Amino acid sequence: MGRSGVVIKVGIVAVLMCMVVSAPHAEAAITCGTVTVSLAPCLNYLKKGGPVPPACCNGIKSLNAAAKTTADRQAACNCLKTASTSIAGINLSYASSLPGKCGVNVPYKISPSTDCSKVQ
Ligand SMILES: *[C@@H]1O[C@H](CO)[C@@H](O)[C@H](O)[C@H]1NC(C)=O
Repeated sequence: MGRSGVVIKVGIVAVLMCMVVSAPHAEAAITCGTVTVSLAPCLNYLKKGGPVPPACCNGIKSLNAAAKTTADRQAACNCLKTASTSIAGINLSYASSLPGKCGVNVPYKISPSTDCSKVQ
């Protein structure tokens, strides 16, 4: 009994560890749809400035939290870059200061000139 009990416990621990390790990969990679939805509450600020809406900071925070791998961060970077050039009226100095205003460390500048392939 003692021996088989240990084997079963080791087996359960191994299965749990596999689930924990593989969980981030099971989640969908970041898409531009996710980025656009997260940024939607920020648009007014990005165009006109003023106070940053809490919903905007929450969007940036969840986006940053979702970008766990280099590939995710590059994808998010490319989406932000595209969004910053395709949405009319965005003030880029507001865009690049936004993460700082939300207290989020985004490891690249949100700007049309950002080279997303260099994002780690
Ligand atoms: C962006 O905002 C800054 C700071 O308020 C302002 O000085 C600049 O003129 C604005 N740029 C555009 C393109 O509106």
